[in-house]
Amino acid sequence: MSTQTAETAGPDGVGSDVTFSVRNLWKIFGKNADKVIGTELETADRDRIKEETGCTVAVRDVSFDVHPGEVFVVMGLSGSGKSTLIRCLSRLIEPTAGQVLLDGEDIEQASPQRLRELRRHKLAMVFQHFGLLPNRKIIDNVAYGLEVRGMSRADRHDRAREMIDMVGLGGYENSRPRELSGGMQQRVGLARALAVNPEVLLFDEPFSALDPLIRRDMQAEVVRLQHDLDKTSVFITHDLQEALKLGDRIAIMRDGELVQVGTPEEVVGRPADAYVADFTSDVARTTVLTARWLVRDAFPEERTDGPVCEAGTVLAEVLPMLAATTAPVRVVDKGVFLGYVGRDDVLRAIAEDQLADATVAAAIEEEAVEGVGEDTEGGPPETPERSAETEAAPETGDAAAEDEAAAGGASETGTAPQAPTTHGATTAPADTRDTAARRDRGRWVTWPRRPNPIPTSTPADWDGSTAPPCGSGPRR
Ligand SMILES: Nc1ncnc2c1ncn2[C@@H]1O[C@H](COP(=O)(O)OP(=O)(O)OP(=O)(O)O)[C@@H](O)[C@H]1O
Ligand SMILES: [Mg+2]
Repeated sequence: MSTQTAETAGPDGVGSDVTFSVRNLWKIFGKNADKVIGTELETADRDRIKEETGCTVAVRDVSFDVHPGEVFVVMGLSGSGKSTLIRCLSRLIEPTAGQVLLDGEDIEQASPQRLRELRRHKLAMVFQHFGLLPNRKIIDNVAYGLEVRGMSRADRHDRAREMIDMVGLGGYENSRPRELSGGMQQRVGLARALAVNPEVLLFDEPFSALDPLIRRDMQAEVVRLQHDLDKTSVFITHDLQEALKLGDRIAIMRDGELVQVGTPEEVVGRPADAYVADFTSDVARTTVLTARWLVRDAFPEERTDGPVCEAGTVLAEVLPMLAATTAPVRVVDKGVFLGYVGRDDVLRAIAEDQLADATVAAAIEEEAVEGVGEDTEGGPPETPERSAETEAAPETGDAAAEDEAAAGGASETGTAPQAPTTHGATTAPADTRDTAARRDRGRWVTWPRRPNPIPTSTPADWDGSTAPPCGSGPRR
């Protein structure tokens, strides 16, 4: 059995509370699932399993935790199993094997009545195709979840109006969905989900049907609502920029498996494998990596009176601060001093982008000369082929919509510093580099994976006796 990484630490590194705990979850479509799990086919690729059993492995042995207040993004190509996974979280699709705990409650054991309760009170889902009821006014669409809970008309309309205002649609209460643009309809979907005041919001590619500007507005809306209302969200997307913008952590899915779960910085700065590296290769690292990523102790004789910078500041914004002084910036996290980031550190991080591009180019040349790499890992995205298995609810139409709607400056404290443990990242020697699949010139080639950007060497001349005047706080 392939074992997936079970993340136990939340966005703040705190591991105790968990909203969703998913363990070894499988969903296999088709009648012969028992011929896969627990047999030698369990680790076989999807095509072979399909060929030998007729089954489609949509989710394969997936484990992860989602923490309260977190936006957990699941990202992957079409057909990678994202929708199946999110629907298994509320049992809109029945998992084949594994466990989903919601606030410690095993949803597999929930009776139909308990499941309905969970879907009405704790969870709300926002769908790609809005899932609105076409014949109902906007206010009644938004109030739908409250209606099925049995709330009086006056009360549910009051609440619905509040939500409609919150998503910026005041004045459209009596319109019908068809009279609204796609972006407006999606806001209605969001208002409907929020109306029931759920603990958890499940978003399945909610914005992929929207044009880029409206999409950006809606993303900002989610960030704002998340900040104001402090909900826990699982958000599916195939758009990396969206994932980076919204996600506290991002899970990258491929062929039903999770290949990496990490913060945006971890996914971009230290991709787990070739597939993730390929996904993130076009991202400008200076817009994702933050001062926290590069923080280090002071070097001997180094100036320690530089400007103060919050740990979450992206490198693109650290650069102008460094341009104004020769001292490294002093990095703090909520008032706790973490260490320093200097010009060289940022330049090195930028250079890694260039180095990666250069090594990609070299690898392509090499491949072209040697004529290999036509058949490496990766490959073009799979096109999903849906069978008629009944569990997968269609996302349009009134009946389905009703079902889905129901689911519907620094404080410098501290002791003597540790000896600096960092002194510059270096590019890994060629013989230790992993290879990664990358699509280029219409084919797949291999290229060296980026080195870990966290510097690891200790300066030879450092004896550990010099304490930077600022002191040093805990390092993260
Ligand atoms: N009801 C079904 N019956 C059979 N196979 C299914 C069913 N639903 C999904 N699948 C298959 O499961 C796999 C995962 O599908 P899923 O819809 O979860 O992917 P996805 O990542 O959400 O894709 P997209 O980005 O296109 O929405 C695909 O191979 C798909 O064909
Ligand atoms: Mg999907």
